[in-house]
Amino acid sequence: MLPIKSIINPSDETYRTNYAANSSAVERLSNELARSTKGGGEQYVKRHLARGRLLPRERIEMLLDEGSYFLEIAPLAGIGMENEFVGAGVVGGVGLVSGRECIIIANEATVKGGAVSEIGQLKNRRLSDVGTENRLPSISLVESAGADLPVQAKIFVPGGRGFREITRRSKMRIPSISVVFGNSTAGGAYLPGMSDYVVMVKKQAQVFLGGPPLVKMATGEIVDEESLGGAEMHSRISGLSDYLAEDELDGLRIARDIVSHYSDPIPKPNLKPVEEPLYPADELLGVASADVRVPFESREVIARIVDGSKFDEFKAKYGTTLVTGFGYIHGYSVGILANNGVLMSESAGKGAQFIHLCNQQNIPLIFLQNITGFMVGRTYEEQGIIRNGAKLINAVSNSTVPAITIMTGSSYGAGNYAMCGRAYEPRFLFTWPNHRIAVMGPQQLSGVMDIIKREALSKQGLPIDEEKLVASKLALEARIEAESDPYFATARLWDDGIIDPRDTRTVLAISLSAAYNRPVEGTMEWGVFRH
Ligand code: COA
Repeated sequence: MLPIKSIINPSDETYRTNYAANSSAVERLSNELARSTKGGGEQYVKRHLARGRLLPRERIEMLLDEGSYFLEIAPLAGIGMENEFVGAGVVGGVGLVSGRECIIIANEATVKGGAVSEIGQLKNRRLSDVGTENRLPSISLVESAGADLPVQAKIFVPGGRGFREITRRSKMRIPSISVVFGNSTAGGAYLPGMSDYVVMVKKQAQVFLGGPPLVKMATGEIVDEESLGGAEMHSRISGLSDYLAEDELDGLRIARDIVSHYSDPIPKPNLKPVEEPLYPADELLGVASADVRVPFESREVIARIVDGSKFDEFKAKYGTTLVTGFGYIHGYSVGILANNGVLMSESAGKGAQFIHLCNQQNIPLIFLQNITGFMVGRTYEEQGIIRNGAKLINAVSNSTVPAITIMTGSSYGAGNYAMCGRAYEPRFLFTWPNHRIAVMGPQQLSGVMDIIKREALSKQGLPIDEEKLVASKLALEARIEAESDPYFATARLWDDGIIDPRDTRTVLAISLSAAYNRPVEGTMEWGVFRH
């Protein structure tokens, strides 16, 4: 396999402009990520620490194996949203515990007592899905006031799913542990209630369906918290707790011990020796267009993420707006699909064929999205752009090898779907800070609406108020621009997080490793179709 020959020139003006813009975007990302670690704010953090408790990130750090990575999922969930804290009151991700890849979910007790907000619930759901899809054992570090009561109408009904999923995973032989560190009320009580293993920390864990005030209201009984749901009571009397921990560190030790007796994970594939790419990852900041309307060469990205920059390009001369080919990432064999312009009939058919080939050989797929959509216009409609695009969407939908999507630029229209956007359930989906996502670009969308409005007025024989139409077009364009922003997207869990482009190779390798906890079996209902 030959290496890609990079042709970028770091002294080139476009490169330098991109580098400057992407560097400042990455700096903003670091600041936002730092802010996401602050929990509910100084006052609540101080109070929590004064109670002698560890913060959720400290608990995770103590739980993980020494030197383990932690691939955090959706750290910026809720950012910029009304009544939401950055991180949405829960910290979660994939890391190694007793040598085993696990999904770890920790309540942020300094945010509304660890209550689950609207976005917090979405994030919990995503973390649960990461566990289920990749067959990762789960460890919940619980300290939760249950539902965020003022927004109960938004979360009560869908909230039941989280508890159902714990026991469904159990049935699939994916074990779950809850370590309870503090108050765990009502909905929070079913987290340990549904888990396979429950550890409660002495004099801290308190688990009950209703706290003392509610009990008094409901039945008139007067009871203190420890007798009602303390760790000692649950370990000695109710049997809800399986292990009584002396303190927080002891609780984390017990969780590690439990994981250590799980049966072995399925073996990983034979990995090729790892080779670093020939070109520095730092150059990705100069490669990726800061302005998503300007296309850039996706092979330059591939050259900076695959082992030895080696890439066996498939159908290089055909359907050239989609680059497809085979390579290795940290020794894992992968099939890569990367946009290099607008999707045409030929590129869509080529993509579908390539996905079939990867399924035939059980090779995971990596989608590098930078797509303005499918080609429009009379000629293309006549050539069957919808029919051909449908082939790619069909292949993406029915493919069963793991897919990981990175949004490196634009993600517009059906291109988002065909290149394995969120609705197509890639195992992991990360974005770069320069990316934009919407049904179409803000100018195009507001322009389309402007044309429609003008035609409607003229059909009704009404006068055209130029000033009003221009104002409404500009307002719509500004709104769509704001809604296409990567922070708007990540706040709503449209992705698993915004990453520094330079970390892409590492993030992909961890994601691949996590995905291999489930047998990789491509679907082969038919032989490979040549499109
Ligand atoms: N929903 C929304 N907000 C909640 C909440 C909930 N379930 N539980 C607590 N909060 C808020 C509090 O109003 C408080 O906000 P404020 O500082 O703006 O006034 C903040 O979270 C911290 O709560 P506080 O009671 O001061 O913290 P604490 O650490 O001393 O106690 C709990 C934590 C969980 C023991 C206590 O807040 C509690 O009992 N909450 C209600 C639990 C419950 O009955 N849940 C039922 C859900 S179905």
